Amino acid sequence: MEIIIQPNAEEASMIAARHVARLVRDKPNAVLGLATGSTPLMMYRELVRMHKEQGLDFSEVTTFNLDEYVGLSPEHPASYHAFMWDNFFSHINVKRERVHIPDGLSSHVPAFCRKYEETIVAAGGIDLQVLGIGSDGHIGFNEPSSSLASRTRIKTLTAQTREDNAKAFGSAEKVPFHVITMGVGTIMDTRHVIILAFGEKKAEAIAGAVEGAITAMNPASILQMHPVATCIIDEGAATKLKRTEYYRWVYDRKPEWQKL
Ligand code: F6R
Repeated sequence: MEIIIQPNAEEASMIAARHVARLVRDKPNAVLGLATGSTPLMMYRELVRMHKEQGLDFSEVTTFNLDEYVGLSPEHPASYHAFMWDNFFSHINVKRERVHIPDGLSSHVPAFCRKYEETIVAAGGIDLQVLGIGSDGHIGFNEPSSSLASRTRIKTLTAQTREDNAKAFGSAEKVPFHVITMGVGTIMDTRHVIILAFGEKKAEAIAGAVEGAITAMNPASILQMHPVATCIIDEGAATKLKRTEYYRWVYDRKPEWQKL
């Protein structure tokens, strides 16, 4: 795993945006895996800027989002559909029919999940997956104890995650218990993963994911087995890592052609 530590969330987000932009320029019909939450917001803002000011073209891009709350309609302000359109899709030229977000209102969740997996395969697989990380180490909504081979399915959120996500709903009690999420195995099938984490609240989860043993108790730790995983974090999220000097040393010595 490549560990990139930046002075702040903004600089880290710029690097992530440049990765996405480079892929979209090199492969205009790229398939992106996308996350919601506060972490990727600055990255989305920068991609919108690149679209508006530099003509970054999303017209042939296909997207798959990681997750959605069960029971929320796309119009619900706290739904991940609303989040993605408000913060990203409405501001770029992505085609609506190429956007895929799990359907929180599906009447047959297992059938929907199977279809979601099939649609990813039919699109050619995900080229680049952007991830945040929960304070408990979840990726997507694969909470601790999730199978590390899991596919898209229904999951039950932990009390901690419902607490962490309370803001969008006004209180933790209003956060749905269930979500549809891409599985850990689904995420592991993507060609490149970028995991972003900002702030000391994420430091323990990042330390476990990067330097801990691979364990379902920290689902992000499976990324140690991903052939191309890039972990881009700020100083706060790096505070519990032991080998920060080495990670900085490696990054400073990156060959010019590899830099973004
Ligand atoms: C969101 C997702 C989650 C979040 C994680 C961090 O689509 O899959 O794994 O990335 O809960 O959330 P924030 O960024 O709000 O701290």
